[in-house]
Amino acid sequence: MTKNIKHIGLFTPGGDAPGMNAALYAVVKAASAKGIKVSGIRKGFEGLIDNDFVELKTKQLQKTMHLGGTVLKTARSERFRTVEGREVALQNIHDNHIDGLIAIGGDGTFRGISLLSEISDIPCIGIPGTIDNDTVGTDFTLGFDSAVNTAMNCIDNIRDTAESHNRMFVIEVMGRDSGYIGVYSGLTSGADSILIPESPQDMTYLLDKIHGYESEDAFIVVLSEGNELSIDRVSQQIRQVNDAIDLRVCKLGHIQRGGNPTAADRMLGIRLGVAAVNALIQGESNKMAGICNNQPVLTPFSEIAKQHAIDAEQQSLVDLFCR
Ligand code: F6P
Repeated sequence: MTKNIKHIGLFTPGGDAPGMNAALYAVVKAASAKGIKVSGIRKGFEGLIDNDFVELKTKQLQKTMHLGGTVLKTARSERFRTVEGREVALQNIHDNHIDGLIAIGGDGTFRGISLLSEISDIPCIGIPGTIDNDTVGTDFTLGFDSAVNTAMNCIDNIRDTAESHNRMFVIEVMGRDSGYIGVYSGLTSGADSILIPESPQDMTYLLDKIHGYESEDAFIVVLSEGNELSIDRVSQQIRQVNDAIDLRVCKLGHIQRGGNPTAADRMLGIRLGVAAVNALIQGESNKMAGICNNQPVLTPFSEIAKQHAIDAEQQSLVDLFCR
């Protein structure tokens, strides 16, 4: 059943990710084509409580779609965890005559807006935005492709120096509990070993591989931050097995979260922004817009709790290239 939406509230409550600004632009473009006004809510749930609303215009967002981060800013909100905080937020939504919400973020963001729907019937649609690619209901999250490209380029740079000195490097990439960034950046940079939380046995293969290792080549280990062994423990175990290896470590850190979004992330932002507006108009609520098998799909927030796991094909590629 279609719904007569007149005014959308749009915000980015989770961690920023490249491609979010393209999605903001797409939401405003698609909404204005249907005569719907869009207000941005600054600083995520904090702005909802502080009544920090700004009117968004397509021209203004068109100029920022190529930038990383989120122009709406984001912040943690302890107040939104309280019933009182959520009631103030809801009052502000009503006072601003918002009749639909679109939130860009990860599962924490979707849990947050689901709490609003427990005390109101305001329709809410989510867009998956996180570099971690750990969200079910979409093949890729906004920001993942950009983060992988950044990590891959950094690993390529490290390889230049590693090859020159015949060094081993352990390079830590982000991803929270997910190995997606590790698998994609490791495979595309020709890593010798990839250590991800989903596959604890890979440490044993690595130690077997470097036992007595002596070579005229660099040796690149890509370690996902969520792995059960920290970068220090991995290095320690490598040294224990082969103390002749000239080993260096590098944590890539937040460099992976910034930078201009890739074309793939901008396109994903455009598709998901438009899909989210269409979903609200079609009367949908409490669902996330995603792209699966190259088609827009909606998944209920209640199904997003599971983590998007590395699949068997990806694991078999890691096995083939890194064992
Ligand atoms: O979820 C995105 C992410 O960058 C993770 O990969 C990382 O573990 C975390 O956020 C870092 O969070 P913060 O920016 O709060 O340190």
